[in-house]
Amino acid sequence: MKKALFILFVFTFCNQTIVAQKETTVLSIKNTANAPIINKNIYGHFAEHLGRSIYGGFFVGDTSKIPNTAGVRNDIVAALKELKIPNLRWPGGCFADTYHWKDGIGPKENRPTIVNKWWGGTTEDNSFGTHDFLNLCELLGAEPYLSGNVGSGTVQELADWVQYTNFGGVSPMSNLRKENGRKEPWKVKYWGIGNEAWGCGGNMTAEYYVGEYRKYATFMSDWENTGGLTRIASGSNSADYNWTETLMKDIPLNMLGGVGVHHYAVIDWAKKGDGVDYAEDQYFQTMKSALKMEELVTKHSAIMDKYDPEKKVAMIVDEWGAWYEVEKGTNPGFLYQQNTMRDAVLAGSTLNIFNNHADRVRMANLAQCVNVLQAVILTDKAKMIVTPTYHVMKMYTVHHDAQLLPITFNSPLYTFNGETLPALSASASKDKNGLVHISLVNVDAKKEHKIEIDINELGIKNVSGTILTSSKLQDHNTFDNPSKIRPAVYKGFEIKKGKLQITVPAFSVVVLEAK
Ligand code: AHR
Repeated sequence: MKKALFILFVFTFCNQTIVAQKETTVLSIKNTANAPIINKNIYGHFAEHLGRSIYGGFFVGDTSKIPNTAGVRNDIVAALKELKIPNLRWPGGCFADTYHWKDGIGPKENRPTIVNKWWGGTTEDNSFGTHDFLNLCELLGAEPYLSGNVGSGTVQELADWVQYTNFGGVSPMSNLRKENGRKEPWKVKYWGIGNEAWGCGGNMTAEYYVGEYRKYATFMSDWENTGGLTRIASGSNSADYNWTETLMKDIPLNMLGGVGVHHYAVIDWAKKGDGVDYAEDQYFQTMKSALKMEELVTKHSAIMDKYDPEKKVAMIVDEWGAWYEVEKGTNPGFLYQQNTMRDAVLAGSTLNIFNNHADRVRMANLAQCVNVLQAVILTDKAKMIVTPTYHVMKMYTVHHDAQLLPITFNSPLYTFNGETLPALSASASKDKNGLVHISLVNVDAKKEHKIEIDINELGIKNVSGTILTSSKLQDHNTFDNPSKIRPAVYKGFEIKKGKLQITVPAFSVVVLEAK
């Protein structure tokens, strides 16, 4: 009898141990000296002339009662500075291939109008132009990323834009810039050669676009690219690998600074679902589409490696984020949507993917910055709020220009309706001061997950943490309740015998700082 009880006890105890081990995910973080630096430009943003992004968003005009600097809202500038915004892409998007920059310089009252044909058909007065944008970037301390017009522009027009913004000597365009009140050139480094050339940028084939690219890239610079321009090719639509292959094969690498990739997390383009009023099914499908980014980056990288094994050309994911139906009652062409904990989880896991691919992904731009798609900032007249996505971006600033610490782990699964996704996403880095940061996302809508990290190798003794979570997935900030979602101190971890044990609640984003 005693023997039987003993066997029962051992069986029960061992069984529990096995279960406990199974339920804890072991994360291994390597302190590898030759790992890449996470380029801070991965944390870039995008401001298109679309809906209330520029007009009625960033730009209210210098006669507005809303506090502004040369017409740009001071509260937006302050919020973006907190994000250490590294770069800002402008003026599109689809709008870029309809935009003629010369219409946006000189006295505002003399500027011609432009009909924004892609986005709501509104008539714009061109009061926000090149000077306004580049001065805004200076105010923000962000690198400007200008998208040139290839679809309906000319080679001369783009070459002139480069001369206008970048040339310090005497020339027709630099003289014009001086006449317009700006003596020193801005020295814009990042230049997109068209946008979505396969679609709104001209419905080109990859082969045709390559010819256009080579021509535009040639006249923007000189033999040696002495201006140090990073010329960026309009990239593929999600999984169009043939597009990337054709670009990499047929554009001389010395003319190619970056290759774009666009990918939106969307449930179904015909039925995108509401930004706030959604069920777990829609959450799961959004995350499935978002997490496809891992496969996209891996496969596009493999193609780029074939032609550029030294990884000189950057992958630039210059449009990413969630795309839902517009908020009820708003202009369908304005793409205004709310931002919930779903968006926070999406942002955290996508940024982890970019961090982990820092060897090739060296810039990315969330679509978009203010009042459009997965915005970090929403405005309603004089009011401004920041979204859950904003908070994730802020929590992740610790990774800017830090050295990647490669992570390996087998993620538990998040199962819904017989389909599965990895429940956990993670990335880690070490900054210039030796601080280690680990960002963890639990994608699972229902279950917390436990993680264990052996910290001996990393020499970690003290840990602190921040968490972004809420009681409901659909929770979000509103103009009446702007701080419903905000980061909080996180204490759900302990160090035991050289192991850091962490519990990550369902649909939450955690960033740990360790030293
Ligand atoms: O971000 C909105 C639009 O999405 C952009 O204008 C275009 O490039 C993409 O299709």
